[in-house]
Amino acid sequence: MVLRAKEMKDTNHRSSILESKTFILIFEKASTRTKVSFEVGIRHLGGHYVFMTPKESQLGRSEPLKDTARVLSRYADGLIVRTFGQAKLEELSKYSSIPIINALTDEYHPCQVMSDLLTIYERTPDFKDLVIAWVGDGNNMANSWINAAAYFPFQLKMAFPRGYTPGEDLLERALQMGARISVTSDPVEAVRGAHYINTDVWASMGREQEQNTREEVFKGFTLNEKLLTMADKKVKVLHCLPAHRGQEITDQVIEGEWSIVWDQAENRLHMQKAILEWIVAPE
Ligand code: CP
Ligand code: NVA
Repeated sequence: MVLRAKEMKDTNHRSSILESKTFILIFEKASTRTKVSFEVGIRHLGGHYVFMTPKESQLGRSEPLKDTARVLSRYADGLIVRTFGQAKLEELSKYSSIPIINALTDEYHPCQVMSDLLTIYERTPDFKDLVIAWVGDGNNMANSWINAAAYFPFQLKMAFPRGYTPGEDLLERALQMGARISVTSDPVEAVRGAHYINTDVWASMGREQEQNTREEVFKGFTLNEKLLTMADKKVKVLHCLPAHRGQEITDQVIEGEWSIVWDQAENRLHMQKAILEWIVAPE
């Protein structure tokens, strides 16, 4: 799918593969990139979309998810869902008869990591000798990177503060599948020799009330120029955005020569198109 997304990017791909198909976006959390890249991507492929939030739908008035899933399945060809707990997405999936795309849950952000793989692939097509670092929270992005490491041959070096590590089960499963992942609480150790370094906000959506505590806990986890000197000379930095400058990343780094975050954001569009095409016409 990464290769298909790259091809779509290179050819400024348009098609009518989604003609007369409608996707419903259900977003319980804010979004700029994911929402807009899916909406634009659907249009590039000739389809239609409906955007829903709890505020103006019965979701916000406690209509059960299982009822929503069964009704929407009769109107549309797919759901694109951003919500809180993964269990909510799975409940929707259980009761719907149309495909569901995870557009971010508290636990995972798979579409983002798939497009991040495209961003890396464009610069380093061979993942075999690649060292990718994660510096930050053991959040949805970290979890999806762990899942990616189970399928791609790069080495993943992760640094989290103690108590903010991802679930043991997830890590164990990836390691059993052959992932090469190491975990430390020392950011310097994680970035040593890294070709790409990833970070993300310290307090994800839904955890804003922990912001102050987390600013204390995550001291030393800022991607700054000094930390980057420990990495490979040509290191590049990824951030899924939105970024909090001065916290997980400095303004100098995000605006500097290391940063590939704008290509990374652009690639959301190309990857969403590859995902949508695969859903309606799996190879
Ligand atoms: N990276 C990402 O998912 O951004 P949005 O929250 O703006 O969709
Ligand atoms: N970890 C972040 C990602 C935002 C795209 C969050 O869940 O808020």
